[in-house]
Amino acid sequence: MSEQIFGELDAILAEIQSAEISDLDQLEAFRIKYLGSKNILKPLGGQIRNVPNEKKKEFGQLLNKIKQEAAAKYQSLQDGLAQSQSENQAAGIDFSAPTQELRVGTRHPVSLVINRIIEIFTRLGFTIAEDREIEDDWHNFTAMNTPEHHPARDMQDTFYLQDSTTRLLRTHTSSVQSRVMTSQQPPIRIIAPGRVYRNETISARSHCQFHQVEGLYIDKNVSFADMKQTLLYYAKEMYGEDVRIRLRPSYFPFTEPSAEMDVYWGLKTERDHKITKGTGWLEILGCGMVDPNVLSNCGIDPEEYSGFAFGMGIERQAMLQYRIGDIRMLFENDVRFLKQFRSAY
Ligand code: PHE
Repeated sequence: MSEQIFGELDAILAEIQSAEISDLDQLEAFRIKYLGSKNILKPLGGQIRNVPNEKKKEFGQLLNKIKQEAAAKYQSLQDGLAQSQSENQAAGIDFSAPTQELRVGTRHPVSLVINRIIEIFTRLGFTIAEDREIEDDWHNFTAMNTPEHHPARDMQDTFYLQDSTTRLLRTHTSSVQSRVMTSQQPPIRIIAPGRVYRNETISARSHCQFHQVEGLYIDKNVSFADMKQTLLYYAKEMYGEDVRIRLRPSYFPFTEPSAEMDVYWGLKTERDHKITKGTGWLEILGCGMVDPNVLSNCGIDPEEYSGFAFGMGIERQAMLQYRIGDIRMLFENDVRFLKQFRSAY
């Protein structure tokens, strides 16, 4: 019986010695428990009658020691806390005052989408290439198998620099293809995110500036199947495992054969009908096998190498992902609009 009481006292002593106290509330709880008028030592003191006579002295001493330790610890903690509090007060700091909201910036939805695209393609071994927005005619058009007077130049209404017939704002990130191919030999595996410009009437669906991510993969024996697989992987990562895609034959001067890729969006709501023009499908990119002319224009032997390229629009995908109904919102930089976008990317 007495063994058990001694054990309890030892446990309480250890508890007091190891108690961690960092604020006044905890300190008060400590005081009530060990030093208050109903402290836990009082009922134990009464147990002395169950202690054999030869141990009564030892019991009393232990009980006193516990009381003293508790009182000493209380005193020094009180002094310490009071001191740091007065230091804070002296420094004019009131830690109990409510804080001001910390305004953290948010990323632009276009950046969020670009960052996800970069993340997906870097996993496949693509590296990032960036180049100028003010381009020359050769890199934007001629090298890309679109010589002067080629009807395809009209597909993209170009902003030329004042007093210049050769310097222009790039109309697509495909200009980075020719920049990369004229400066390095295959294997080439790059994506090129960036801003592009076209002289178009601004509306809810189109703008005179927007963003693209270009992709270019050149090596020996690259096939159309490689391209399909790469783009399917992208679509799954971006739109979910059970995404459906389709490739429709198309035309670009710099690829042959060429295609446009659609993802299935659905036809459940009236809005779905509206944005997919009743088909359920949405075009997100153009792609194809790099035309041999483009390779030779840029100094790469088309007999030895082949490759694929794609170019995807970013705004369209951002609008899909965040259900934004008007492309102009992406360029107005209204903070009330922008601060809704929070993300880990
Ligand atoms: N440059 C094309 C466009 O802007 C997209 C594209 C890129 C198509 C690469 C094929 C290959 O529409």
